[in-house]
Amino acid sequence: MSYRLKYHLMPKVGWMNDPNGLSYFKGMYHIFYQQDEKDIYGRIHRHWGHYTTKDFKSYGKQIDANYGDTSRDCDGAYSGSAIEKDGTLYLFYTGNVRHKGDYDYIHAGREHNVLRVESSDGIHFSNKKCLLLNQDYPSDCTCHVRDPKVYEENGMYYLVLGARLKDDTGCVLKYKSNDLENWEYETRYVPKDTNGYMLECPDRLVFDNQKFILASPQGLKQDGYKYENVYDNGIYELHGTSLENYKSLDHGFDFYAAQTFSHTKRNILIAWMGMPDANYQTPTESENWMHALTLPRVLSFDGCLKQFPIQEILDLRQNKRVYKDFFSMSKTSNIEFDVNGEFEMRLNDIVLSYKNGLFTLDESKCISGRTQRHIEGIDIHHVSVFVDVSSIEIFINDGEYALTSRYFDEYENMRVVFHGIEEVVVYVMKGFEICLLYTSD
Ligand code: FRU
Repeated sequence: MSYRLKYHLMPKVGWMNDPNGLSYFKGMYHIFYQQDEKDIYGRIHRHWGHYTTKDFKSYGKQIDANYGDTSRDCDGAYSGSAIEKDGTLYLFYTGNVRHKGDYDYIHAGREHNVLRVESSDGIHFSNKKCLLLNQDYPSDCTCHVRDPKVYEENGMYYLVLGARLKDDTGCVLKYKSNDLENWEYETRYVPKDTNGYMLECPDRLVFDNQKFILASPQGLKQDGYKYENVYDNGIYELHGTSLENYKSLDHGFDFYAAQTFSHTKRNILIAWMGMPDANYQTPTESENWMHALTLPRVLSFDGCLKQFPIQEILDLRQNKRVYKDFFSMSKTSNIEFDVNGEFEMRLNDIVLSYKNGLFTLDESKCISGRTQRHIEGIDIHHVSVFVDVSSIEIFINDGEYALTSRYFDEYENMRVVFHGIEEVVVYVMKGFEICLLYTSD
């Protein structure tokens, strides 16, 4: 049995991590991502892979967009974003450089530069320019300043960067420009209470005039059932320059480095379905690939932020069935059910349960060392679960809460047993079509 996914983006071979440069340009969605085709652990040379799609169902695997090959990015073209200006697509990214020597690579020995490449067709990128160096960042920053996210507001361009300061706190640096080339430091956004030592992959959203900063904080202390993963990924309200009321975006084992983009009024989020430095495994080495991206999710705001798979993904659902008792289904399915109190559902060896306001995802009986993840003090009225061979994405109350995880077992199908649930609606999910659009030597 193979663990390869059928309706998620994953690497053809090798390593995948963060989504990068999410954008819509010249009639196509562009989904770039961190990849290393030479090493399933991403240790040799990370750079930007590239998928394109018009409909989120069939995808083209394009030639790599961005390879670190200058003195300013020779150890990797790390994460960043995309923006269109006057018919040109610009990619902003982190040029990673590790100097040889006896360094700690936090305070010395590393460069994190901001570089830019551009393209008129969205496929071939050139004209690489280095726009910011470490010495351009405020003097209290360590060498860890990365992941530029560029956006436009009232005719000006802004760029936010995740930073680790010398006192081991994280913040977001903000730069401004009127030409996307010359950048001037404007201010920093600082977390009011929930802080770690680093904020990776900052992003920015606006709903109903309220501004938000998304980020992946490293170093948050576990607090009961909060922040159970080694690193978190969540959203802060932005008040002036203060980052407040932090909420995790996802409560599963494998969700990190989420990035958003907007097109035709939809805000779409895609995250890495993985977790750096986790103490559990993703046993796909023998198949020569590692990790994947989450389903694309549309974000909405109605007092709280909700995320749910975009309509194009829901359109992949077919063969609707309704069950009132245990059943068996394909491992590429979506199941939905209403909830009216406590319940328990077993999907092979995975157990979902809800008791006394506590929702638990239990993978302790599966292969891979994942144990339990929780959400405390919630009311549940509806659950939708997307299973894809070795991934599970759970959306509670139409996306008010989400849990994203990989799971590993050796069964061909999925046997579903439940209590406290009246009936379950089941759909089979149609797979993505992926076409290689370049010839590799
Ligand atoms: C987040 C991250 C980014 C960095 C990239 C390198 O997962 O550590 O901060 O740019 O991965 O692949």
